[in-house]
Amino acid sequence: MGAATVTQVPYRSYALPVHADGLPLVVEPHDDRDPDRLAAWLRANPDWVAAALVEHGALLFRGFAVADARTFESVARAIDDDLKNDYLGTSPRNALTDHVFTASELPSYYPIPQHCEMTFVARPPRRLFFCCLVEPASGSGETPLADFRKVLRDLHPSLVRRFERHGLRIVRNYSGPDGGRRFDLWRLKRWDEMFRTTDRATVEARCREEGFEPTWTAAGGLRLVSSQPVTRTRPETGEPVWHNHSTTFHLSQAEGEYRRIYRMRPTLRHFLLWRLAGVLERLQRRRPVDELAMQCTRADGGEIPREDMEVVREAVWRHMVVFPWRRGDVLAIDNYAVAHGRLPYHGPREIAVCWA
Ligand SMILES: [Fe+2]
Repeated sequence: MGAATVTQVPYRSYALPVHADGLPLVVEPHDDRDPDRLAAWLRANPDWVAAALVEHGALLFRGFAVADARTFESVARAIDDDLKNDYLGTSPRNALTDHVFTASELPSYYPIPQHCEMTFVARPPRRLFFCCLVEPASGSGETPLADFRKVLRDLHPSLVRRFERHGLRIVRNYSGPDGGRRFDLWRLKRWDEMFRTTDRATVEARCREEGFEPTWTAAGGLRLVSSQPVTRTRPETGEPVWHNHSTTFHLSQAEGEYRRIYRMRPTLRHFLLWRLAGVLERLQRRRPVDELAMQCTRADGGEIPREDMEVVREAVWRHMVVFPWRRGDVLAIDNYAVAHGRLPYHGPREIAVCWA
């Protein structure tokens, strides 16, 4: 952001000191913490917001008195009023307003790998917003960011070509309205919750719109199979972006994430979780691919080599920006440039999400 532009902002704006490339750009009040005035200023300055998002990929509004989901929604709407509320991913979420949800109800010890939001739907969100309503304990529960344009540039062209040549196939198995009949450690949430209907014809029509191939299982669950691109182009700049969910859905993801989390935060808990993830992965590999809760393979169902996934994960982690949440933080992300994830935490934490 050039100095001339920054001086037009009635707030302090600066890049986090540890990240010279300015991800995210932090915007703080000098003294006026009123979120309504922040929203009014954002509405009055859409060009500044758009340019800052294009340049930085993410904006962190810190120090404003954003204390609840409704206030968060009004700040998000000041940036993009076209909020959506159909979430077709795998995280269990609770609604806080019509358009604001808890970010993920997955267990706190579980890491969420870096991903751009819903890259597997026909039209992934353009912008994503998070808000910290309850600050997690220090040194845990961050929502790290990673510039997936840089990740793509870091990957050897031959590896990217290999991904593109073989294609991607995603399998997700959602449980049925009865929540699944038997104990299953990997069970995904219920399909009727995700589609907000129990009417199978409505679900099938929605699946057709998104390019998901639905199969109803004998146990009342729903299997979704879909393909997706490896990269997409950022509309404003034409830059190519790594834009797929392979690292999130591949069977090796939990072991790969925990190993790196242990490297970053070497605690006994992280060591044990890392080793347990390896054991559970081997157990899962005994099941047919289409019965796994989630898996990403090549288009023909063949395994994406673990070594390739490791190369991608290394590139992602090299570009990962980790910063602590502060209560009231609002994070605006360009979903066609910057990915997000979640580090494990303990104790209370509430992060809300909405998207446009
Ligand atoms: Fe997400």
